Amino acid sequence: MIRTLTLTAAVALGLATGANAAGAEDTHITDYSFSYEGPFGAFDQFQLQRGLQVYTENCSACHGLKYVSFRNLSDEGGPHLPEDQMRAYAEQFFMSDFDSPENFDLIDPETGDQKTLTPADHFPANNTQGAPDLSLMAKARAGFHGPYGTGLSQLFNGMGGGEYIASILSGYTGETKEEAGVVLYQNEAFPGGYISMAPPLFEDGVVYADGTPATVEQQAQDVAAFLMWTAEPKMMARKQAGLTGVIFLTVLSVLLYMTNKRLWAPHKKAAKKA
Ligand code: HEC
Repeated sequence: MIRTLTLTAAVALGLATGANAAGAEDTHITDYSFSYEGPFGAFDQFQLQRGLQVYTENCSACHGLKYVSFRNLSDEGGPHLPEDQMRAYAEQFFMSDFDSPENFDLIDPETGDQKTLTPADHFPANNTQGAPDLSLMAKARAGFHGPYGTGLSQLFNGMGGGEYIASILSGYTGETKEEAGVVLYQNEAFPGGYISMAPPLFEDGVVYADGTPATVEQQAQDVAAFLMWTAEPKMMARKQAGLTGVIFLTVLSVLLYMTNKRLWAPHKKAAKKA
C-alpha cells in the first residue's frame, strides 16, 4: 500500500515538474505584487480606472469584453466609476466589429448603425484579426502560482493571470520574424516565444488623469489588474464571505468544544469517583 502511494506520489511529482519544465522552458513571467492578492487583498479602484483607460485606448480596437456590462463599471469593489461617468462612457463607446453576430443586438436594424449604448448593454464582442475576447483571459491563463484550485500559494499570491498578462505586454524583445506571410513578434512571456499581436503599449501611450507616469510597465500592470477584475468581478465579495465563514466556523468550534466539555463533565466526575 505504502509502496503504491509513494509510487503514485513520485509519478505525480514527476508529471508536475515535467509540465512545469515544458511551460517554463522559454518563457519568463514576472511575479508582480498586485493589490488584490492575499486573503485580505482588494482591487485598487484607481488602478482599475487606469486599466479601463488603457483597454479603451489601446486594446478595444482588436479585443472585445463581451461578458462585461457597462453598469458593472460602477460596482463597488471594482472601478467604481460615478454613475454619470459610467453612463457617458457607455454612450461614447465605439464598436469596431459590426460583423460579429454577438453584436447584432447593439445595432439599430433600421439604420445599420450602432445604437447608443446604455449601462445595461455589454461591451461589444470583437475579435478583429483573430484577437481573443479578454473578459475571462486572466482566469484562462491562471496557473503561474501553481495548478489552479490547489494549495495555499494561490491564497497568498493570487492565481497568476494578472502576472501573465502584464508580462506579455511588457515582454516584447523588439525582434520579429515572418512566417507564412504573418509577422510574429518575439515575446519572452508567450509560450513558443513569438506572438502575432504587435506590441500594443508605448511609453506615454495614454495620459492618466491622476498624473501617474504612463510607462509601459505601469500600463501593463494597470490593464492586467483591470482584466483580473473583468474575470473575477466578485473577488472582494468572495473574500469577505470566506472571512466571515472562517470567523463563524471558529466561533462555532469553540462553542461546540465547550458544550462537549459540559455535557460529559458529570460522567467524567462519576468515572473518577468509581
Ligand atoms: C492590433 C490588434 C491588437 C491590439 C490593439 C491588441 N491585441 Fe492582444 N492580441 C491580438 C492578437 C491577434 C492576439 C492573438 C495572438 C496569438 O495568439 O499569437 C492577441 C492576444 C492577446 C492575449 C492572449 C495571449 C494568449 O495567451 O493567448 C492577451 C492577454 C492580449 N492580447 C492582451 C491585449 C491587451 C491587454 C491589449 C491592450 C493593451 C491588446 N492585447 C491589444 C491583437 C491585438
